[in-house]
Amino acid sequence: MAGFYVKFFIRFFLSVHFFAVLVYSVWCPSEFRHINPNFEQKTNRFWEFEEQSNSWVEVELPFDLVSCINGNCTKVGSISQMKQQEESLQGRIDIPEQGKNSKVMPGDRALLDESSNIVLPQRKRISLTRMAEISIWVTGESGSIYERFWNGVQWVIAPHDLPISAGPAVSVFIVNQTFIALSEAGNLYQLQISESSQAVWIECTPTHTETNSSLILIKSGVVSNDGKRAYFTTIGGSLLELIEIKPWRWIYHGRPPGGNAAAVVNVATVRPDVVFTVSAVPGEIFMS
Ligand SMILES: *[C@@H]1O[C@H](CO)[C@@H](O)[C@H](O)[C@H]1NC(C)=O
Ligand SMILES: *[C@@H]1O[C@H](CO)[C@@H](O)[C@H](O)[C@H]1NC(C)=O
Ligand SMILES: *[C@@H]1O[C@H](CO)[C@@H](O)[C@H](O)[C@H]1NC(C)=O
Repeated sequence: MAGFYVKFFIRFFLSVHFFAVLVYSVWCPSEFRHINPNFEQKTNRFWEFEEQSNSWVEVELPFDLVSCINGNCTKVGSISQMKQQEESLQGRIDIPEQGKNSKVMPGDRALLDESSNIVLPQRKRISLTRMAEISIWVTGESGSIYERFWNGVQWVIAPHDLPISAGPAVSVFIVNQTFIALSEAGNLYQLQISESSQAVWIECTPTHTETNSSLILIKSGVVSNDGKRAYFTTIGGSLLELIEIKPWRWIYHGRPPGGNAAAVVNVATVRPDVVFTVSAVPGEIFMS
């Protein structure tokens, strides 16, 4: 399937500018059926990651998107001002720049937040997963899954939606080069290549042991730093570890004493083989 770059690793360096655009581009589901779907710009606010200061800096528009191959940089696109929104935003309030003294009063802050919300009304379900330098997997606001990949000439979009019965997707994990999607309902799906060379999502939600075959619904997850394991929090508040895909092998870690696992973070850069879970019950952090 076009754009399914499991085996392709072409050395390609992309300027971080492009990722800033991806973060704030909003997928338009109505264009999904078209052959060449496009992103629709819905905001005038974009941030560029500045490595020296390790922080996000708002960029001024128009802003050029640059792609660099072996230090040879070419402009591949540009983000321009959207006129209507510029007027409506500036008519209401000046946006304070990061790091500068803000002159915004508390009431204005609410107005600013409100106006930001108008630009980006709903942010749920949005996730980004980097597969390779030329392939980024995205879940959009609509619950669609799609891949942005570099076809050698330009960045294109390949849709990889879950079956309609699965409902909207909220994230994609890449474990040992296997693609796993999480649906909003808490089910997991694995991307497999069918006999007709089509990529299809097969449900792989884990179940309780033989005596109890009910599904273990998943809330969120994180892949270990080496990409070989994944940790999931369940809707019931337990921690689940995926250690093998062929065949599926899970370790059920249960709930931390007196708490639950509401979120999980990979801290392998700090301590290898350690994940932290955050409990929503007493608001404490546990180490696994
Ligand atoms: C950079 O890329 C352009 C377009 O692909 C090419 O024409 C040019 O020769 C390249 N320059 C260098 C120094 O490689
Ligand atoms: C199966 O496990 C779930 C979660 O631990 C529990 O709520 C449910 O009652 C169990 N069902 C049976 C039949 O044991
Ligand atoms: C990933 O592959 C490694 C060996 O390369 C294996 O030890 C590990 O169990 C695999 N993980 C999963 C989730 O399949």
